Amino acid sequence: MKVLVIGAGGREHALVWKLAQSPHVTRMWCAPGNAGIAEERLAKNQSPVECVPVGAENLPKLLALAQEKAADLTIVGPDNPLALGIVDLFQQHGLRIWGPNQKAARFESSKVFAQQFMERHGIPSARAGTFADPMAAKEFAAKLGGRCAVKADGLALGKGVLICRSVAEAEKAIGEIMVNKAFGAAGSQVVIQEFLEGVEISLHALCDGATAKLFPTSQDHKRALDGDQGLNTGGMGAYSPAPFLGPAQLEEAARKILEPWLQGCAAEGIEFRGLLYPGVMLTKEGPKVLEFNARFGDPETQVYLTRLEDDLVELLEASVNGTLAKHELKWKRGAAVCVVMASGGYPGSYAKGKAIKGLAEAAHLPNTKVFHAGTVRQSDAVVTSGGRVLGVTAWGPSLEAAQTAAYAAVEKIQFDAAHFRRDIAAKALR
Ligand code: AMP
Ligand code: GLY
Repeated sequence: MKVLVIGAGGREHALVWKLAQSPHVTRMWCAPGNAGIAEERLAKNQSPVECVPVGAENLPKLLALAQEKAADLTIVGPDNPLALGIVDLFQQHGLRIWGPNQKAARFESSKVFAQQFMERHGIPSARAGTFADPMAAKEFAAKLGGRCAVKADGLALGKGVLICRSVAEAEKAIGEIMVNKAFGAAGSQVVIQEFLEGVEISLHALCDGATAKLFPTSQDHKRALDGDQGLNTGGMGAYSPAPFLGPAQLEEAARKILEPWLQGCAAEGIEFRGLLYPGVMLTKEGPKVLEFNARFGDPETQVYLTRLEDDLVELLEASVNGTLAKHELKWKRGAAVCVVMASGGYPGSYAKGKAIKGLAEAAHLPNTKVFHAGTVRQSDAVVTSGGRVLGVTAWGPSLEAAQTAAYAAVEKIQFDAAHFRRDIAAKALR
């Protein structure tokens, strides 16, 4: 089977790495990929994974690529092509593709839609309002005492959420998003949620339009600096499982979130075949959904796929075909930890083109995999090309063992001004 993967980050490297282990896969391409992806080989025939320089948002070229290569299945990593309707486009041309169609991707591409859906179907969330009028938005924020999250409706490169602690801050945030259009058209409407206190976790469920198969829990680390200080980033590290929910509580969370979500999808004619990733706050009153994503998390994917025992091709095929109910997800015992190594300055401005040393040494360590995110090959060297550069991932019989192994690998790797958090998974071990 010939597979095309779309995307260029650590999530996509983890997808490619796991898919390449499947005996079903005979050829694989990644558009556009990165230096680590280009080094993967297929277990079946040792054929190299080929990176093709087509951007993840260039839908016409991606379609032409899939047609030219006669890909049997295309797998979409990031949110933007899903929101642009890549799944619908490929299906119109008779191509098989994994991911939610444009209508289903609205759970991520429209926060207003997602919030109103949760309200329509009784999914536990924050008290919230949705607004197209800045004055009405400000009145609602004032009612919450200004302690709220102001969220631009549309995709905003993960930056469209402003956390406010006073009425003045909330008014400023609403002005920035709705009047100054800091995130462009994404801010013509907003969701305003009450500020929720608690521990935040990531849930992932693979869906086939009728069934949702829940993964174990994981936790991302969104802030740039140790102790959850500094600016919000795309994610500085993750681990799985997160110990804040036992098996019974996880089942309860799934019942309260996924059951009404599935019923709501059926009632509204939404066929969600893909990965649903609810960001969940564990509050005193139980789990509450902060947002939905319609794709795998990054860096959650890196820890999930190093723990997954099943053949990922078979699972994604079942997600496309509507036959997931027949599958059981199996996970390695123990835990996995991913530490992101970023360029100094990220999430602000940063330099690129720094040579990365020590990758070969790290590759020799047991139970460890260094996933690439922002890397390119320049003749003999691998150099940095993005904010998040590497996702150094390790697994072991316990969270502590996985954490120790991940940081041992991080110690082997150097590049100029490398920055990483030293406390990934520390909260869970306390
Ligand atoms: P989102 O993209 O909606 O997940 O928001 C980005 C981040 O803002 C989340 O990961 C949370 O850490 C935080 N956040 C979002 N909504 C809330 C809320 N209602 N209360 C507290 N924190 C929130
Ligand atoms: N883990 C954060 C994200 O994928 O959005």
